[in-house]
Amino acid sequence: MNLIVVSNRVARGKANEPMTGGLAAALLPVVENSGAIWVGSSGRVRDGFQKEPFAEIEALGAGALAMLDLPAAHYGGYYEGFANSALWPALHSRSDLIRTSQGDYLSYREVNAFMARALMRFRKPDTGFWVQDYHFLALGAELRQLGVTEPIGFFLHTPWPTSAVIEGVPHHRELIEAMLAFDLIGFQTAQDCENFLAYVRDELELTAHEGVVNSSYGRTRLAVFPIGIDAEKFAQAAAKAISHPDVSRLRRSLNGERLAIGVDRLDYSKGLTNRIHAFDRMWTLHPTLARTVSLLQIATPSRGGIEAYGNLQNEVARLVSDVNGRHGEVDWTPIRYLNKGFNQSVLAGLYRTAQVGVVTPLHDGMNLVAKEYVAAQNPADPGVLVLSKFAGAAAELDTALLVNPHDIDGMARTIAAALSMPLTERQMRWEAMMAKLRAGTVQQWFADFVDALQETRLDKAAVEPMLAEPPTLRPLRSVNGSARYH
Ligand code: F6P
Repeated sequence: MNLIVVSNRVARGKANEPMTGGLAAALLPVVENSGAIWVGSSGRVRDGFQKEPFAEIEALGAGALAMLDLPAAHYGGYYEGFANSALWPALHSRSDLIRTSQGDYLSYREVNAFMARALMRFRKPDTGFWVQDYHFLALGAELRQLGVTEPIGFFLHTPWPTSAVIEGVPHHRELIEAMLAFDLIGFQTAQDCENFLAYVRDELELTAHEGVVNSSYGRTRLAVFPIGIDAEKFAQAAAKAISHPDVSRLRRSLNGERLAIGVDRLDYSKGLTNRIHAFDRMWTLHPTLARTVSLLQIATPSRGGIEAYGNLQNEVARLVSDVNGRHGEVDWTPIRYLNKGFNQSVLAGLYRTAQVGVVTPLHDGMNLVAKEYVAAQNPADPGVLVLSKFAGAAAELDTALLVNPHDIDGMARTIAAALSMPLTERQMRWEAMMAKLRAGTVQQWFADFVDALQETRLDKAAVEPMLAEPPTLRPLRSVNGSARYH
């Protein structure tokens, strides 16, 4: 299959650049090896009607990277308007933060249609399309409009919420009907898949059998593909990065003090304010931990043009300064707070330096930081992962210390417990998590999805002549021991 991968944000093959998007960083090594064409936004816009969309194309491993200038008139409505002020809040169960307009929706649809037209130039015989994430929910339907009959898959990197929440999105019905133009829809967790299926059954009143939905587009298979990382490679990078100047400086500055680390985009889904309240509480409840443990919180600014993000940035900065003011000493700063990104290899070294990794989102599709923190640990003296039970990663990393990110006291107690956990328990928990990471690599995720996409075509060829019979499909291979049909 000649694979075309589509996502809004893409990454160039330069390992030393800071990566802001989990999706782009995760996809880069696998797309590079696959020979696929990866198409996405250049981050630039272009005025006027473009007959042939402008794309800057460069080699990427065995394939290519095509970066498109998106239409200037629609970019704001598409990216900040509909994708990140209607879909993102709803997908993370924050429909109270939806701020959008009819114009934003029309721009979102325009950019989806624009992307479909742009993709036609990369189409070859035996092409398969793999669309990533919530920016392009309608892209499958737009491609079908243009006469594409080849397999089109979609993977959602975020959670999929309950129907009551997604119904807060204007035009939800139209969009979800359009999603059924995809042959395969992949989710991070079984819960996301079940929520989507419930909408399709209850709101669209469509029939579904063994994870296959029948609609006017034909059949759409729903399945679960938890995204992973290349744990071995990350572990090697972490061991090497320990001598990186930034990492060495951090170690020296600690003077034997222990460190907890949080690394997030500055986003309201990440639970940053609750986390800072939890550290505040911990230093209040356990005064002996003052001066002996500090938090390094890296929070990369994101989507700055959206009011909710600006408000969050101010709130977190105020809170950090308040906590530092109350607990700090002339020679001790409780929270080191940085608003910048680091490249993956420096991050690997920072994770390895920290005795506790705090990953406490209120909702998260997967959260690859949790997996990276685990992979970066020294096997002889591993740190402890404190993980929100509402991160997709919690379904796999169940030997982390799981917390409710809304329970500040509970988090404070758990972080303190992590700091005093004996070595044998740390090792047992870490080894169980590493085994999961080794079994579910990003390479495996990529291969599983592409195999399943190819299977949809085989299934179609097999069952189309006997349309009267509802199809009975064989179950897909299981991923990490969990069934992939729901
Ligand atoms: O999970 C959704 C996602 O696409 C992640 O890959 C990434 O963390 C984020 O959203 C990217 O956001 P943006 O491209 O808006 O910076």
